[in-house]
Amino acid sequence: MAHYKPPPKGVQAIFRAIYTQAEECRETFMDTLREFFDHLADEWDAQQPPDREEKLRDLLTPFRPLLQEARGVLEIGTGTGALIPLLREAAPTARILSVDLSHRMLQYARRRCPWASLLQADARHLPLTPQAVDLVVCHNAFPHFQDKPATLMELARVLAEGGHLLILHDLGRERVNAIHQGVGGVIGNDLLPSGGELGRMLTEAGLSPIHIRDDPEQYWGVGQKAISPPR
Ligand SMILES: C[S@@+](CC[C@H](N)C(=O)[O-])C[C@H]1O[C@@H](n2cnc3c(N)ncnc32)[C@H](O)[C@@H]1O
Repeated sequence: MAHYKPPPKGVQAIFRAIYTQAEECRETFMDTLREFFDHLADEWDAQQPPDREEKLRDLLTPFRPLLQEARGVLEIGTGTGALIPLLREAAPTARILSVDLSHRMLQYARRRCPWASLLQADARHLPLTPQAVDLVVCHNAFPHFQDKPATLMELARVLAEGGHLLILHDLGRERVNAIHQGVGGVIGNDLLPSGGELGRMLTEAGLSPIHIRDDPEQYWGVGQKAISPPR
């Protein structure tokens, strides 16, 4: 086995400084993203189509069996909480925890659902124990994850073996990407990957089998967390 020789002290200090600077840049970027969504919160519901509830119900339809069976559901990027009543309806006996980066978005979610469990957190660093839930639902938030593979790994970490992760969008990929590019600024590069690329990322996060829908109407990906073989 090759003997590991640590780099000289001066080189270690340079690595540390680069790492610290990269972390500071990341934190500054996340603050800017959070501020963007805090501002958007006041307008978000008014921007949605009048038949949104019906569309969201339709979007959840193929996943009703998973929701019905779920004991613990984690919703990532809840925004103003539009999906929460529909998750409650579809998973009447489950514990449901809804997470968002933006405090202002969560204030609207609280008004909509005074009974909901809400948590302000970054999806990449969840303050949850491993295997805490058996269903993770992420609706209209995936493009905003700055490190998508790392965030999917984090979502897979909190998912119980045999549990499912759903990445859902009520619009097709091209529409979503055109909207974000049109808005520009901090979300201008927040794009959905092709269905094939999403499938690769879900597989690398330890999920299998994977099912993908990537057509002009909807975009979604579903993966199941593998069950470890008995020792
Ligand atoms: C486009 S909005 C969608 C909100 C809601 N899902 C809906 O469809 O009405 C995206 C939401 O994801 C949240 N978000 C973005 N990045 C996040 C992250 N890293 N962790 C948690 N939430 C995040 C934003 O704060 C925002 O509320």
